[in-house]
Amino acid sequence: MFFDHVPKRNLVCAHRGARSIAPENTLLALRIARDCGAHCWETDVRQAGSGELIIFHDDTLERCTDICERPEAAALKPWKVENFSQEELRRLDAGAWFLKNDPYGTVAEGVAVAGLGGQQIPLLREVLEFTAKHRFPVNLEIKDLQGPEGDAAVVDAVLTMIHETGTRDLVLLSSFRHEYLYRARSLSREIAIAVLAVGQHPPDLLNYLKSFAAAAYHPGQEICDDALITTLGEAGIRVNSWTVNDMTRAQQILSAGAGVITDWPQRLI
Ligand code: G3P
Ligand code: MG
Repeated sequence: MFFDHVPKRNLVCAHRGARSIAPENTLLALRIARDCGAHCWETDVRQAGSGELIIFHDDTLERCTDICERPEAAALKPWKVENFSQEELRRLDAGAWFLKNDPYGTVAEGVAVAGLGGQQIPLLREVLEFTAKHRFPVNLEIKDLQGPEGDAAVVDAVLTMIHETGTRDLVLLSSFRHEYLYRARSLSREIAIAVLAVGQHPPDLLNYLKSFAAAAYHPGQEICDDALITTLGEAGIRVNSWTVNDMTRAQQILSAGAGVITDWPQRLI
């Protein structure tokens, strides 16, 4: 299972890849995350309008592609991912924005890698093939696709792809939409699950996590403290906190026994 392939302490997970030095959620960001020594990476799964599973964080394409510069797509503003087919999404440049906007100042500093343009939005299949080939563990966060209650079809598709690529022991599934995690557990007793939380803990946290047979809990750093890490650790549940970009805070969380999901993995390895 996933946690057999990462260290027991000081776990550094690259958030959306090596996001501070490469365009997030691209195969380039994935490769660099691995090359810089991160123990695993976190990435976001959603569906193209044509149904295929793709890797992309936002609901819309504006921030992380060149969609604004595509006259043929003007009428589709605000460019929701779900309104584009896989083929249309794959024609977009998912890397040039990083060079242009330099969101972390790393392009100006000269520490971002060269050749950032020309990246495609990856398919989940490509990511899992990389996972299988390089044995590089991945935390797949399934985005809330805003479907009606009870509609967890995306989970079935994700698990099918994990099965087809033989990557089950290298994948940690997470989601803010916990209904997806229940669905995953009902489909697979073996898949590792992490419950995501922001702002506040679910009531009766330990029993709640046990109801998913969760291997991990992923709280936002604002609700992550030493007592939580200790209590869950004693129950055999790992804690990995996000998105920890202050290195002092990161060291504090690591020292307390949790892992960190960070945009700056290269600074912690
Ligand atoms: O999985 C942790 C973190 O990625 C959750 O938030 O918005 O960065 O996907 P977000
Ligand atoms: Mg995420």
